[in-house]
Amino acid sequence: MAKVVFLLSILAVFLTVYFLSPSTPPPLPQLDYDAWWGPENLKKKQDTSIKPFKIQFDNVLVKDLRDRLKIRPTFTPPLQDVGFEYGFNTKTLETWLQYWAFFNQYPHFKTNIQGLDIHFIRVTPQVPQGVQLVPMLLLHGWPGSVREFYEAIPLLTAVSKDRDFALELIIPSIPGYGYSSPSVRPGLGPPEIAVVFRNLMHRLGFKKFFVQGGDWGAIIGSQLVTIFHEEVLGYHANMANVLSLKSMIYTWLGAYFPSLVVEEKYADRLYPLSKYYSDFVEEMGYLHIQATKPDTVGVALLDSPSGLLAYILEKFSTWTRKDHRSKVDGGLESKFTKDQLLDNLMLYYAPKSITTSMRLYSEFLNKRVFAMRIDDIPTPVPTWIVQARHELGYVPSWLLTSKFPNLVNATHLDDGGHFLAFEMPKEFSQDVLDAITAFRKLQKNVRKTEL
Ligand SMILES: *[C@@H]1O[C@H](CO)[C@@H](O)[C@H](O)[C@H]1NC(C)=O
Repeated sequence: MAKVVFLLSILAVFLTVYFLSPSTPPPLPQLDYDAWWGPENLKKKQDTSIKPFKIQFDNVLVKDLRDRLKIRPTFTPPLQDVGFEYGFNTKTLETWLQYWAFFNQYPHFKTNIQGLDIHFIRVTPQVPQGVQLVPMLLLHGWPGSVREFYEAIPLLTAVSKDRDFALELIIPSIPGYGYSSPSVRPGLGPPEIAVVFRNLMHRLGFKKFFVQGGDWGAIIGSQLVTIFHEEVLGYHANMANVLSLKSMIYTWLGAYFPSLVVEEKYADRLYPLSKYYSDFVEEMGYLHIQATKPDTVGVALLDSPSGLLAYILEKFSTWTRKDHRSKVDGGLESKFTKDQLLDNLMLYYAPKSITTSMRLYSEFLNKRVFAMRIDDIPTPVPTWIVQARHELGYVPSWLLTSKFPNLVNATHLDDGGHFLAFEMPKEFSQDVLDAITAFRKLQKNVRKTEL
């Protein structure tokens, strides 16, 4: 009986909210495309040139890091028979701290956009006649970096006789991440960063381009393809996110009637909802801290390389496979090498960017950005979403179409976690190239029917 009452009340809430919620999407947010995020005094002397850039870890930094690692305290031992359940296993931490190493590769540049020095990698493949170069903006997330794409870059930019195009990649660091400078004032959230990256593409001469993203890259990407839908040729994402009331309500409804919401073969990616939410509560403490008090935890992480390593690599453990939680070594080296993970870590350690990277959570999860309701504004940009088996969340394809009515494909991988490009560069690149091929075919057909 209680269950029936509960079901009916859910249904009542659902119907009320659904029918009372406005059916027309909100207008596109009015954003200032020239907003200045840098120091005020530099506004009049902006240097808009594009300068080659090299990542260098100077001797002072390296010596300081060695010293800090040497004088580290004896860490609190883990509880008996515990893996990563209580956080980074401190026995495993020692093996990482003994290894920490350094790197450099691909052409790096910096250019000033709206007061921010934006760091980016640009890879332009040599193409034979008849092969068209097409630009793609490739966006990373937290706690990742441009380093996540190093293994995928040669695969994505490869020239193949099976394709009449090759990708030219523009891979920027998000403002406040790696070597891109942070804003000096509040308000630089994902919609505003979308403006910065679109302006970067304009600076480089690209008026139309493709976009790919995961994690923050998928959130910024989704905003970019909404605000600048006339400039984006196609959008590929490896994290599905639609933060709308409708998708939330249907997800709840599916807890009782899964077949209404999700195909049976994918049901275990979303249900039982109790497991989904208990995982959420167990794993999302960082999100609450970073969305509210990033500067406080930032003090500790900036002061301690050991702390920074534990905080960031714990995410690479659990977000790659949830069952890595029960392993003493966090399963880290089953999917990545120490070099890969420490390279990525260096892009937080060397530029001291951990605090400014975490601020992005506060600049997103706030009333100002929610009020824009960007996820309620459909975008006509052709979209292709790949959902890896072990991604943090799952959104059924049909729910994606409210935001992306031009969903060309939603591929489901039976493997792979949150850092898909980093973990499975081959499968990731193949999926992206399949998507670009499909987007280009669509354009050709549209052009044909227009003639
Ligand atoms: C969608 O993806 C599947 C699986 O990769 C593929 O077989 C199919 O051809 C794709 N559809 C389109 C329209 O490209």
